[in-house]
Amino acid sequence: MQTSALSLLCYLSFLSVAQASVTVYSQVRLGSPTGTASGSAASYTGAAAYDPTILNPPPIPSPAPATQFTLQLASSAQNVQGLSIPQPGAFFGFSIEMSVINQVIGINSTFLQVPFLNLMANVKERAGRVHVRVGGNTQEYATVVPTLADGKDMEKDKTSLTNPTQTPGLFLTYDIFYMLANVTALTNVNWYLGVPFNDTSNFRLQIAEIGEAVLGDHLLGLQVGNEPDLYSAHGHRPQTYSPSDYFGEFGTIIQAIANDANIPVKNNLIGPSVSGTWTPEDVWNTGFVPSYSSSLGALAVEHYPTDNCYAEYGIGQPVDPQTVFPQFLTHASGQGLVAPYLNSTNYAQSQGKPFLMFETNTASCGGFPGISDSFGAALWALDYGLQMAYSNFSGAMLHVGGQNVYYNPFTPPPTNESSYNQWTIGPVYYSVLALAEAFGTSNNSRIIDLGANSQNQYTPAYAIYEGSNLVKVALFNFMTDPSGANTYTATISIDGSAAGLPNGVPTQAHVKYLLAPSVSSKTDMTWAGQTLGGVFQSDGRLAGSLNVETVTCDQNANTCQVQVPAPGFALVFLSQSSLSEVSPSAPQTFPTTAYTQTINTVTINPSVLATSNGRGRTGELGSTSKGNPNGASRVGVVGSGVALLLSIVVGAFVIGREAVRL
Ligand SMILES: *[C@@H]1O[C@H](CO)[C@@H](O)[C@H](O)[C@H]1NC(C)=O
Ligand SMILES: *[C@@H]1O[C@H](CO)[C@@H](O)[C@H](O)[C@H]1NC(C)=O
Ligand SMILES: *[C@@H]1O[C@H](CO)[C@@H](O)[C@H](O)[C@H]1NC(C)=O
Ligand SMILES: *[C@@H]1O[C@H](CO)[C@@H](O)[C@H](O)[C@H]1NC(C)=O
Ligand SMILES: *[C@@H]1O[C@H](CO)[C@@H](O)[C@H](O)[C@H]1NC(C)=O
Ligand SMILES: *[C@@H]1O[C@H](CO)[C@@H](O)[C@H](O)[C@H]1NC(C)=O
Ligand SMILES: *[C@@H]1O[C@H](CO)[C@@H](O)[C@H](O)[C@H]1NC(C)=O
Repeated sequence: MQTSALSLLCYLSFLSVAQASVTVYSQVRLGSPTGTASGSAASYTGAAAYDPTILNPPPIPSPAPATQFTLQLASSAQNVQGLSIPQPGAFFGFSIEMSVINQVIGINSTFLQVPFLNLMANVKERAGRVHVRVGGNTQEYATVVPTLADGKDMEKDKTSLTNPTQTPGLFLTYDIFYMLANVTALTNVNWYLGVPFNDTSNFRLQIAEIGEAVLGDHLLGLQVGNEPDLYSAHGHRPQTYSPSDYFGEFGTIIQAIANDANIPVKNNLIGPSVSGTWTPEDVWNTGFVPSYSSSLGALAVEHYPTDNCYAEYGIGQPVDPQTVFPQFLTHASGQGLVAPYLNSTNYAQSQGKPFLMFETNTASCGGFPGISDSFGAALWALDYGLQMAYSNFSGAMLHVGGQNVYYNPFTPPPTNESSYNQWTIGPVYYSVLALAEAFGTSNNSRIIDLGANSQNQYTPAYAIYEGSNLVKVALFNFMTDPSGANTYTATISIDGSAAGLPNGVPTQAHVKYLLAPSVSSKTDMTWAGQTLGGVFQSDGRLAGSLNVETVTCDQNANTCQVQVPAPGFALVFLSQSSLSEVSPSAPQTFPTTAYTQTINTVTINPSVLATSNGRGRTGELGSTSKGNPNGASRVGVVGSGVALLLSIVVGAFVIGREAVRL
């Protein structure tokens, strides 16, 4: 069905995906340029998503980590203490602000963004499915209407901009839900939706009603309250608003849902989504979880390690990206980020609930130029994601903002450039691919932090078990050294005499590398030899040939030696089947059949687009970044014009799969 549907398409390609920039491991080790502060960046005035700033990679630490170390591993999970709970390949998902979905996902149910479909398909091919959260501040003021007068699917309620916090009301049409369902039918995206919570005496439950009716089992959960611990600071509740007030309001919406016959599923609510102003324990201590256990599908928090609010909005203290860059490039970052939640992941397990990181990225208020969009961020997010998994989170959503944030996993081009510019894929998207492969499709992968190289913070490593078997090893090198002197060799040894067991290494192992010349690099990133190109270069399909290294193991010595360059990440597959499972031979892709320059769902003064650097307090380039004091009041630059006329294809897919209830 898929093949015949695609064969109907008239293939029209304007693509210029960077086929040439495929890097292989051996070339990297010979030495490549490292970053140097870029002169042109100082005068850059374009949108943040394309900022050319390149920082200097941090120097090699002194003392430098050992370049040889052994990982003595058990082949059977039964002999391992401290493994995580079972994890899915879809552990890493995406969080998309509700007000920007028609820039990123599609304009309507028949006009989906093809690069978005391809990007989701890449994850699906590796993890079996994709998790996307649609929500954020704008969920609170959303209202569903059957249709809009102008025929669009989504619109800001301009009259509501007079409210004191400048958070706009948002009108969504029924068609938005069909758009999401169509994405699901094509790429098995499953959705978390936010329900409005601004008015607890008059709940607007249509997102729950229509979401459940249209998405069915593909609706994973409904978030009730986005960062309620910031409600009083944002003027959405009185200054006295407390965890017990949130507890009370949560009870009210449970009652409203109980009384709503159009919401058949009543046990998929998600809270408290606190951001750190309240601790999760502040909410647990109200009795939240046991009181509402039969309504709660998952518990969640939202958190960013730091913020760039001074540069963006003049709030707080200035932060110099070069100064803080090294803090992202150690294992301590991920460990420190999960530490405040270890009690809660343990508590969630005791209560039988998954615990989710519902929104995160490198820094709120847009992230940092040179950090959020660098290869360093790819390594950082991957280690942070694996650390969350090891710490018994059950999923984490990387946030997607507008054109004026630095941290996007993917960014559509400005509308008026959409006939010749493609999407820009950010480093953390590669982290999602690598993590999806680390956990695969079984839902049954457990992970442990190995404390590798005497707990060295620059060379962390994890082991991954599927069912009871050791299947993969994940190895990081956070340093940058093109000379090769800080390339390390990890010697993997499995069972053997040390454990009183037979030697356990396979005859050979396979290795996929996540690579770039430097932690500062913004382009030239590859995952197993394949790339999504540089700025404006991607249609969402991986380009270049797959490059999987083979390591011959020494079964007499019981060792497999794997090299990891500085910088780099290696995913070591200890069996052929673990490799095949996540290496799609014929990836599902969505060729481009139509371009448009008419996708224009929000208004923007073009002169602002030309001159704003995305930082000005009056800049019209709307951020949906957390920390934006304007909330997400400005929806920002409109998304791509690359779109597929999907009606034929989608019809064929859906008839064939009957996967979506419409
Ligand atoms: C979706 O948008 C396209 C382009 O504006 C339009 O041609 C099409 O009719 C719309 N489809 C729906 C279902 O509104
Ligand atoms: C996708 O959207 C189109 C337009 O609304 C609709 O006709 C179609 O039924 C939708 N679903 C599928 C699966 O095509
Ligand atoms: C909640 O938001 C809706 C939609 O913007 C608005 O009409 C309503 O007045 C708001 N209610 C409160 C109490 O803020
Ligand atoms: C862990 O969470 C439980 C449940 O809220 C709480 O009773 C306990 O005090 C917390 N422990 C710590 C160390 O915060
Ligand atoms: C994760 O959960 C497992 C199973 O309950 C437990 O053994 C392990 O210690 C937990 N890990 C952490 C870091 O809390
Ligand atoms: C993994 O979990 C998802 C969601 O529950 C399910 O749809 C899928 O079938 C599971 N995969 C396997 C291999 O069990
Ligand atoms: C897109 O619009 C901006 C603002 O008007 C303008 O500066 C830029 O040159 C335009 N790009 C193209 C390719 O027309």
